Amino acid sequence: MDEYKVTSKCEEDTISIAENFEAEKFPGMVICLNGELGSGKTIFTKGFAAACGIEETITSPTFNIIKEYLDGEMPLYHMDVYRLEDTPESTGLLDYFDKDGVVIIEWANMIEDYLPEERLDVFFKVVEEDKRVIKFVPHGEKYEELCEDAL
Ligand SMILES: Nc1ncnc2c1ncn2[C@@H]1O[C@H](COP(=O)(O)OP(=O)(O)OP(=O)(O)O)[C@@H](O)[C@H]1O
Ligand SMILES: [Mg+2]
Repeated sequence: MDEYKVTSKCEEDTISIAENFEAEKFPGMVICLNGELGSGKTIFTKGFAAACGIEETITSPTFNIIKEYLDGEMPLYHMDVYRLEDTPESTGLLDYFDKDGVVIIEWANMIEDYLPEERLDVFFKVVEEDKRVIKFVPHGEKYEELCEDAL
């Protein structure tokens, strides 16, 4: 399986890496972000959202699990399942995979069994204070193309 590793030296780097994916977005796209606290998952989402034309400020949806941003070129559904206590079915989170927008999930590994097979997995690793290694693992042809074009 192909995987792509990119080094980010600062917050702005992570934002520009995320911006590269914007041009390739498609309805139903699922991006799964994994990595320890403070590794850059929300910063990545901010970059992605800004490039999608979303003007609203992206804030971490930790306590409400999901936030919808509908003022961009395509709906963006931003989830953070770190504090999810119920099953994803009972909270209706899974319905978002069938909508015509982009779903981006922080701590996606916590709902691994419920994720669609075709998706983009992203792993953030803190290397030094401001340095992160970001690994992209595409699942499915569409996501492989996405990585080839965006990275
Ligand atoms: N290269 C980098 N890329 C992204 N963020 C960085 C980088 N270097 C330093 N930072 C800092 O690390 C922090 C990343 O915070 P962020 O909220 O994105 O983490 P997170 O992975 O979403 O954490 P959480 O699991 O708590 O939601 C920010 O304070 C940011 O300024
Ligand atoms: Mg976060």
